[in-house]
Amino acid sequence: MAADTENTKRRGENYFTDGGLWGFIHRSFTKSMGYTEEDLAKPVIGICNTFSELNKCHSHFNELVDYVKRGVWQAGGLPMEFPTISIGEPYVKPTTMLLRNLMAMDTEEMMKAHPIDGVVLIGGCDKTVPAQLMAAASANIPAIVLTGGPMLNGRLHGRSLGACTDCYQFTLEHKAGNLSDEQLATAENAICRSDGHCMVMGTASTMASIAEAIGMALPGCAAIPAPDSRRRHMAERTGKQIVALVKENIRPRDIMTERALENAIRVTMASGGSTNAIIHLVAIAGRLGIRLPLERFDELAASTPFLLNLRPSGQYQMEEYFEAGGVPSLMKEMESLLHGDCLTVTGGTIAENLNGVEVLDRNVIFPLDKPLDPQGGIAVLRGNLAPNGALIKQTAVSAHLRKHKGKAVVFESPADLDRRIDDPGLDVDENSVLILKNAGPKGAPAMPEIGQIPIPKKLLQKGVRDMVRISDARISGTSYGALIVHVAPEAAMGGPLALVRDGDVVELDIAARRLHMEVDEAELARRRSEWRAPEPHYDRGYGLLFIEHVLQADRGCDFDFLVPKELRDQE
Ligand code: FES
Repeated sequence: MAADTENTKRRGENYFTDGGLWGFIHRSFTKSMGYTEEDLAKPVIGICNTFSELNKCHSHFNELVDYVKRGVWQAGGLPMEFPTISIGEPYVKPTTMLLRNLMAMDTEEMMKAHPIDGVVLIGGCDKTVPAQLMAAASANIPAIVLTGGPMLNGRLHGRSLGACTDCYQFTLEHKAGNLSDEQLATAENAICRSDGHCMVMGTASTMASIAEAIGMALPGCAAIPAPDSRRRHMAERTGKQIVALVKENIRPRDIMTERALENAIRVTMASGGSTNAIIHLVAIAGRLGIRLPLERFDELAASTPFLLNLRPSGQYQMEEYFEAGGVPSLMKEMESLLHGDCLTVTGGTIAENLNGVEVLDRNVIFPLDKPLDPQGGIAVLRGNLAPNGALIKQTAVSAHLRKHKGKAVVFESPADLDRRIDDPGLDVDENSVLILKNAGPKGAPAMPEIGQIPIPKKLLQKGVRDMVRISDARISGTSYGALIVHVAPEAAMGGPLALVRDGDVVELDIAARRLHMEVDEAELARRRSEWRAPEPHYDRGYGLLFIEHVLQADRGCDFDFLVPKELRDQE
C-alpha cells in the first residue's frame, strides 16, 4: 500500500512519542481529557461529526458517533471526535453548493492539521458526502465514509411518500387549486417521519451509493434506514474497520482510482441517480488528478442499463431498496459491467465483496437483461446552446418531450423568473421552452437547485405537468420532468445561453444528444457583441473567493486552486 512519505511512524505516534517540549505538551494536554499512557499508544481515529441542529438530515449523528467509537475502542484505536461545518439543504441560502468547497477545505485541513491516523467521515445531506470524499482524496489519510441513512418512507392515506419528490407534487397541486391548506399541512406532517436524509434516489442517496460503489464505505451502508438498528451495527463495524485500514495503511488514493470512478458512474447510471452526482464525481476525480470529461459519463451511460426502480424515476424508495439488498445487490446484478479488481475499505476487492450477494426483490432491482431502460439515467447534451455540455435526467422526462421543438420564453435571472412566471399575460403555451439565465456557478451564484422551473400557473390549471426547461442551474436529485441543467459555459460568462431571446426556436433531441437554437451564426455574433456581463454578487469575503475561483459545471465547480497542480498545468 501507499508509502508513508513523512516517516515510518504513524501521524499520531509522531505527536505522542516526541521526547521534547511538544511531546510533553501533546501528552499532558491529552491526558487532561482522561486518556492514559496506554491510550496514547493506539492509532488515533478522527471521527468527523457533522451533527447540527441546523441540518435535519444529521440530527441523529451524535448517537452514530457513539457506535463508531465503540468499534474503534474494540479494535484497539483511540477515537477522537471533531466537528466541521455541516450543510443541510432546506435552510442554507443562497444554496448549499456555495459551501460544498468550504466544507471540503474545512474537512481536509482538519484531517491534515491533527494527529489523525485514520478518519471516519460521517455525512448524509446532499453536499456533505461529496465534500468529504473530495477532502479524503486530497488529504489521502486512511478514511471511511459512514452515511447517516435515509428516512423511513412517509405515509399518508395508505400511500408511500418521498422527500422531496412529493414536496414538489404537493405544492404544485396546492398551487393548481387541487389541494386545500389543511390537506397541505397534513402532508407536511406525514412526509418526513424519522431521522435521516431524503429517501428517494435524490442526491443524498446517490452520493451514499457512490461512496459504496467507489469503495469508500462498507458494503450495504447506503440503504439502511437511519432509525434501523442495523445502521448502528454498521457504525460500529465502520469504527472497527478504520483501525484495520490504518494498520494496513490503505489510503483513499489506493481505493479511488480511475476504474473505481467508472464503477461509481455505472452504479449512478443504473440507479437513475442525481445529475448533481456528475458535478461531484468530476470534482472528486479532479482532486485525484484525473480529468473526467462529460463524454465519459455519456459513454458509460449508453452501456449501462437502468435497473433500479426507485423514485423519482421509478416506483419505490430507499426503504424497499434496503430490503432488496441495497447497493451490493445492484452491483451484483451488474457485476459484469464493473471493474471487480478495485480495492475497497473492506481491504478486499469489489469482486470479493460481492461473493455470495443476491438480489432479494426483482420489483426493485431489475435484471440486467430485462432492464427498466436499456440506457442509464443521465444523458449529456451538446449543441450551439451548450458547447461544453448540459445534462438531462432522461429517465424522468415525459415521453412526448424526449424530442421537442418550441419557442423560447426567456427569464434573464432567478428574480425575473419569480416576478413573471405566473403573470397571466405571459406569452407561453405547453409547447414553449422555458429558459432561465444567470443561475450558474458564478451567475446565481453557486448554481442553486432552481432548474425545475415552475410550470406557469395558467398552464398548470389547464393540466400541463411537464415542459422543456433549460438553465445553467442545478436540480435537486428528487426533481422530475424535461429539465436540462448545468448548461456550460454559463450565461454569466457569456455562454450561448446568454444570447437566447424570446421566440427563438429551441430543439431538444435526447436520442441524438442535441440541444440547439435555430439562430444563425451572424445573428449570434451580433448579439454577442451587445452582451454585457451581469454585476457580480459579492465584493468581499468567501463569496468573492467563490466567484473568482469556481470552475464551470463541466469541471466540477471545484475551486481552481484546489485542483492538483499537475492537472492545472495540463490545461
Ligand atoms: Fe438533506 Fe434532502 S434535505 S438529503
